Amino acid sequence: MSGDEESDLRRFFEQQIELYGDELALPKEKLNWRGGEAATPAPGRSPYLGERIREGLESPPRPEPQAMPDLNLSTLEELQGRISGCLRCAIGGRRRNLVFGEGNPAADIVLVGEAPGFHEDQQGLPFVGEAGQLLTRILASIQLKRSEVYICNLLKCRPDNNRDPLPDEVANCLPYLEKQLALIQPAFILCLGRFSAQTLLQSQASLTQLRGKVHPWRGSRLIVTYHPAALLRFPKFKHETWQDVQLLRRLYDEFLSENCPR
Ligand code: URA
Ligand code: URA
Repeated sequence: MSGDEESDLRRFFEQQIELYGDELALPKEKLNWRGGEAATPAPGRSPYLGERIREGLESPPRPEPQAMPDLNLSTLEELQGRISGCLRCAIGGRRRNLVFGEGNPAADIVLVGEAPGFHEDQQGLPFVGEAGQLLTRILASIQLKRSEVYICNLLKCRPDNNRDPLPDEVANCLPYLEKQLALIQPAFILCLGRFSAQTLLQSQASLTQLRGKVHPWRGSRLIVTYHPAALLRFPKFKHETWQDVQLLRRLYDEFLSENCPR
């Protein structure tokens, strides 16, 4: 087992213990099972689950089907706390960090990407890898700082090898995004890539069909553009992205002059 796999597994155990208490009979202090002291097995459980897994006698526990947490909450911090132990998808058990989102909780503009990648999972923050750096520059191109908008993703956990989100994962995670948006109530939502756009708009239309217009969405105006990772691979889409973010900037300026007259 590689160091990464081992630490992933260890995290998974810690989360399981947080959630299910002693059910696994795997005391926290015994988790350091690489070179750590041999654990004293609980009566009737010999040896410890971690040991049995290490020895290949048993596979790691699969995430239990969890009930949807109660999202009747009034702040983003409460929501983040409420979902921080979520294991409703298998990828939850393999994450390093749940990537909740960051930025201004009273933002007028919320950006919604697809799912955390490697660096986001490592740091627990959205859009901090290469695509994220490009996103920061795209925002700067329309005079927006990351700190004045709010940035999050459709999925809060990193899919294995950055594969596309699975329908179950989208279904499990969408209520969290919807609650974030309900708490922030932004004037504008910018969807980055087709996954968040198709999901929020409940549409199968292609990104080409969805971009370049304004979609009403629960009191917000939703605009769709290419995902910055797509721009890294296909720079030819930059032109359209530039048009999309200019549209956002123009509408935002109108919004500001209507709502914050100088
Ligand atoms: N891609 C995304 O969709 N979200 C991130 O946070 C990073 C990369
Ligand atoms: N950085 C950019 O600004 N554009 C690219 O296409 C790639 C990296």
